[in-house]
Amino acid sequence: MTNEELVRKAEEGMANAYAPYSGFLVGAALLCRDGSVFTGCNVENASYGAAICAERTAITKAVSEGYQKFEKIAIVCSSGSYAYPCGICRQVMAEFMLDGQVILADKEKGIVEFSVKELLPGAFTRKDLFHG
Ligand code: THU
Repeated sequence: MTNEELVRKAEEGMANAYAPYSGFLVGAALLCRDGSVFTGCNVENASYGAAICAERTAITKAVSEGYQKFEKIAIVCSSGSYAYPCGICRQVMAEFMLDGQVILADKEKGIVEFSVKELLPGAFTRKDLFHG
């Protein structure tokens, strides 16, 4: 699947965003190594801190369906500019796709691609926890 196709899937995910508090809609599309795609959206809550980001929605959906090997994740947001993932989402990406890629799209500037490692250098992983 091309980055453009994955961005389109992320836009489909964004259509389900539940963001009545921030008004900031986010969509994600996660490509598994076997070609399966899981979409996600942000899901907010009256208790603001209970909000779940689009990226973690997609990753949690996939893991709960038995998928753990991911190639790349595309993220879009309603402002139309690059939707850089928050720190918690970068950490969750490091858990399941440390060798993966993050695809971002700006309506005017186009698509850019980063590795998870460059977005979270020196990530804390299970290797650190279990002393290698
Ligand atoms: N949000 C995401 O969905 N992904 C991110 O990586 C950053 C933030 C959502 C959470 C909240 O619903 C809204 O954007 C505003 O922070």
